[in-house]
Amino acid sequence: MDIVTVHNLKKYFGRGENQVKALDGVDLAIEKGKFTAIIGASGSGKTTLLNMIGGMDIPDEGEVIVDGVNLRGLKEKELSVFRRSKVGFIYQNFNLVSTLTVKENILFPLSLAGSTPDPVFFEEIVKLLHIEERLNAFPAELSGGGQQRVAIARALIAKPAIILADEPTGNLDSKSGQNVLGLLKLSVETYRQTLVMITHNLELAQMADCVVRIEDGRVRA
Ligand SMILES: Nc1ncnc2c1ncn2[C@@H]1O[C@H](COP(=O)(O)OP(=O)(O)OP(=O)(O)O)[C@@H](O)[C@H]1O
Ligand SMILES: [Mg+2]
Repeated sequence: MDIVTVHNLKKYFGRGENQVKALDGVDLAIEKGKFTAIIGASGSGKTTLLNMIGGMDIPDEGEVIVDGVNLRGLKEKELSVFRRSKVGFIYQNFNLVSTLTVKENILFPLSLAGSTPDPVFFEEIVKLLHIEERLNAFPAELSGGGQQRVAIARALIAKPAIILADEPTGNLDSKSGQNVLGLLKLSVETYRQTLVMITHNLELAQMADCVVRIEDGRVRA
């Protein structure tokens, strides 16, 4: 079963001679419960595609359906509900709030949504990601790998159907990158989530169930 389907997706930036066809007719299906890696040269459209799937940006043409929700026609408020309930994002630069502790960072999306955390699930995640000893630390006190594990916990806490990660190990050395990706894989398998990850690292892409290559705004067959 596919959790994401993308039809003829187009996104152009700019006008006239300077127009960039960031996405130029992408068709894609992502299978539920699988780990899909997106690879491709810099500027090929990977981040643009991920942002469309996550409802972070709106296409010029085409369709994105995520977990039964057609994003076309959702109003901004509905899109933000969609993002909060269905999607967990993980970024290259972690995007943690420096003035909040590890625990507060993990719970931040839930507090924004006004929901209360499931304490059992919280315990489980922080154990799985080896951060249970650092809950009162601030992000700057952790290593890059440690910060990314916190960001993963934050992405998982709302039990989203799909995790979207944009080069999550891009700022880590290769060993801690592999460790972090191993834990990310373990987490999504444990909670039967779907992981879509952009990476430049072909070694990491090999850990995926499925690899999609983007070239000049299209999926290369
Ligand atoms: N907001 C924007 N305004 C103008 N052009 C943009 C914008 N976002 C992306 N682009 C352009 O669209 C193209 C695709 O960008 P995108 O960020 O999706 O590439 P990418 O594959 O993620 O690259 P990288 O590997 O370097 O992160 C690039 O030419 C980029 O310059
Ligand atoms: Mg990118």
